[in-house]
Amino acid sequence: MSIEKAYNIWANQYDTNKNRTRDLDQIATIETLSNYEFENVLELGCGTGKNTNWLLKKANRIIGLDFSQEMLTKAKEKIISEKVIFKKADLTENWDIDNNFADLITSSLTLEHIIDLDHIFNEANKKLKKNGLFFISELHPFKQYSGSKARYETESETQELEVYIHHISEYIENAKNNGLKLVEIKEWFDKKNENELPRLISFVFEK
Ligand SMILES: C[S@@+](CC[C@H](N)C(=O)[O-])C[C@H]1O[C@@H](n2cnc3c(N)ncnc32)[C@H](O)[C@@H]1O
Repeated sequence: MSIEKAYNIWANQYDTNKNRTRDLDQIATIETLSNYEFENVLELGCGTGKNTNWLLKKANRIIGLDFSQEMLTKAKEKIISEKVIFKKADLTENWDIDNNFADLITSSLTLEHIIDLDHIFNEANKKLKKNGLFFISELHPFKQYSGSKARYETESETQELEVYIHHISEYIENAKNNGLKLVEIKEWFDKKNENELPRLISFVFEK
């Protein structure tokens, strides 16, 4: 099943499923981005708007991009604000956003579905203002090596989504090749249990 179709089905239960990765991402996003100021935000793979709500507390303008119509419908039901626009877009194509629009781009739990990180960092560089930030939070590659991937239960089966493994060095190399330097890297553990594999990794890059 295509990734887009799988998310269209997942949309109905995405916010209500037990999902430690989703919940830890929300903590990582808020803890990290609380330390930065931003006005214009471009949210990649905004999904049902889980993080949009919090970003709205600080931002003046947010554009959320996602290719799943059903995820976007949920987001639009939850978030009604003239500061926010949700747009259907495939991130593997060129992003139809003004260059130099954003002082913050965020991407949570989305890049595992995208094979070509070079394209993502190349577009991010174009859409970011000078000194703009790119925040990424993803399933930690250690988890990916051990077989973890995005999945959900339907009435009849477990639906596993198509994912690609990205090594830590790959994020940093692709960012550097596209004019972004690493500012911050963090690993996030379940209930701060550092004896197990970290669940998430997050990066802040700066243009
Ligand atoms: C796990 S969800 C994360 C949603 C949200 N960022 C969050 O943290 O709750 C991944 C999202 O990425 C979107 N996505 C995956 N690949 C995409 C692509 N190529 N273009 C646009 N959206 C994509 C999916 O539709 C889905 O909404």
